[in-house]
Amino acid sequence: MLPIGPLLIEPRLLERMIEVMKKELISTEKGENVNSHLIGVAVDFIQTYADKCHHGKEEDILFRDLNKKNLQREHRRIMEKLIEEHRWGRETTKKLVEANVRYLNGEKEAGRDIVNFMRELVIFYPKHIEKEDRHFFIPCMEYFTEEEKEHMLREEWDFDKNIIHEKYKDVVAAAEESRKL
Ligand SMILES: [Fe+2]
Ligand SMILES: [Fe+2]
Repeated sequence: MLPIGPLLIEPRLLERMIEVMKKELISTEKGENVNSHLIGVAVDFIQTYADKCHHGKEEDILFRDLNKKNLQREHRRIMEKLIEEHRWGRETTKKLVEANVRYLNGEKEAGRDIVNFMRELVIFYPKHIEKEDRHFFIPCMEYFTEEEKEHMLREEWDFDKNIIHEKYKDVVAAAEESRKL
């Protein structure tokens, strides 16, 4: 498998979550109550799977190695844009998490923020995915030797293995922090 193999497969799961978020968005816009539990599940998925696991491998392995190559101007431009978009996605998801907490704390007006941030995210992700899948990943493979590609793929498997440990270390640290208050 090429190192872009996992990077092309993983967004399919993200697309399924985006579809769920779209349905939640439609029902909230129709005036139904915000489903805070579902929002919590969706943001956890985005933060752990889409950002740490998927964007993590893009940035820490593929983009890192591409950065060492003499990239065509267009490829470098797209890579920089993708990094900027990851940053935007991270910030917007964080804002959605915060709005959801405010909503759970009884601040009903936070429902409007939830709808807005969710709308921004469901519009953003399909465009971001298309940019990578159709215009970036495949031509980028030309820069690497077979050996380099194999090495990257192995690194990606190791990267994935560590995610669960990092995730639950963070969960325990957050739980410990909450008991201090
Ligand atoms: Fe990406
Ligand atoms: Fe991606």
